[in-house]
Amino acid sequence: MDSLSSGRVADVLNRLHQEAEAADASLGATFAEQGATDLEQALRQVVEAENRDLKGLYRGFAGNFLSVSPEFGRFLYMCARNCKARCIVEFGSSMGISAIYMAAALRDMGGGRLIGTDLEASKAERARSNVAAAGLADLVEFRVGDARDTLKTGLDGDIDMVLLDGAFTLYLPILKLLEPHLKPGALIVGENALTDAGGYIEYVRDPRNGYLSLPLSFEPGRGNEFTVKTA
Ligand SMILES: C[S@@+](CC[C@H](N)C(=O)[O-])C[C@H]1O[C@@H](n2cnc3c(N)ncnc32)[C@H](O)[C@@H]1O
Repeated sequence: MDSLSSGRVADVLNRLHQEAEAADASLGATFAEQGATDLEQALRQVVEAENRDLKGLYRGFAGNFLSVSPEFGRFLYMCARNCKARCIVEFGSSMGISAIYMAAALRDMGGGRLIGTDLEASKAERARSNVAAAGLADLVEFRVGDARDTLKTGLDGDIDMVLLDGAFTLYLPILKLLEPHLKPGALIVGENALTDAGGYIEYVRDPRNGYLSLPLSFEPGRGNEFTVKTA
């Protein structure tokens, strides 16, 4: 049984992906105007913009979903099911699309807790309303503010799974913040975990740090990384 294939969760996700497509339609053109000829270059532009003014950049994206694709969402659901997650943390919740995929997995396994966080209060509000529409509100807590602050406390359980999908250059500091709470075997999925963006890839691919890590080959060019905590 999975609640992605039909019913309330499926209907809400379908609607949200359509809304995301409309809201984000012009982003490709904006990156092209700034000289990006492919996705990789566009992602590099984001890294450079983060280095100049991280909060200003994401303030400018307050109306954008920037969400995972339906395929990646299903992958997140499958990861959560496969590791029998009870506690999931998400860095970068935006309007709640990826949170719905992962919370649906928690629901389908009998319950659990997802903590998501985003800089933008308006996004967290929309994420709460979207998660409620999907019937998953009792499983999800959204925190507002910089994840470097919001994830410092209130992580009292062992974390089974992490989605890193916020500012690319903060993946390493956020991982280090969460590290003491990660269960051995925990899964960490890094969306757009780019090399040369703050040292995250170099860190998780060094087994001396207690991880095994590989790039995901579906959605090529996006820099998605799959990591398992081994120690
Ligand atoms: C790619 S979007 C997340 C998409 C979401 N995971 C989904 O699939 O629906 C990245 C989000 O990270 C948020 N963000 C960026 N830096 C952040 C920070 N330092 N703390 C918390 N959120 C941050 C942005 O506001 C933005 O909404």
